Amino acid sequence: MTRSDAVFLVAHEPSGVVTAFALTYLAQEPEPWLESLHVVSESRGSGVGTLLMRTMASRVRARGYNSMRLGVVAGNAAASRFYERLGGEMVGLEPASWAPGVWHELYRWPDLTALAG
Ligand SMILES: CC(C)(COP(=O)(O)OP(=O)(O)OC[C@H]1O[C@@H](n2cnc3c(N)ncnc32)[C@H](O)[C@@H]1OP(=O)(O)O)[C@@H](O)C(=O)NCCC(=O)NCCS
Repeated sequence: MTRSDAVFLVAHEPSGVVTAFALTYLAQEPEPWLESLHVVSESRGSGVGTLLMRTMASRVRARGYNSMRLGVVAGNAAASRFYERLGGEMVGLEPASWAPGVWHELYRWPDLTALAG
């Protein structure tokens, strides 16, 4: 939250209860990296994740970038479908940095214009 090159979004109920968050590091090479997107289990499937992705695309563009990538743990088919429906393209597989033996499917938005709306 203290990094100046990060965009951190939080979704919450009117009561203030947090239901989701998203975090992107803008200065990552070769382009901004969506590090995390998480919706609490009771709130999934109601559009919060889509709203955060669209808002993130808009904020990333407002900071002067027009592309983004992220890693989905290989085998998380529901998340892969979610990103594909939002226009993400699967561009490869790479080992995850945070655990040995875990692979990421790399998803990429070469142009965030449509996602940002
Ligand atoms: C993937 C995730 C961010 C989507 O957010 P969401 O608010 O549930 O998504 P939306 O309501 O905007 O869209 C629903 C779509 O998300 C997908 N989805 C993925 N995981 C889901 C889940 N556990 N429950 C419901 N939908 C899920 C479905 O494809 C669903 O599409 P459908 O309506 O055609 O079934 C969210 O479900 C989540 O946090 N999952 C667990 C953590 C995770 O896998 N994060 C991604 C890591 S890269």
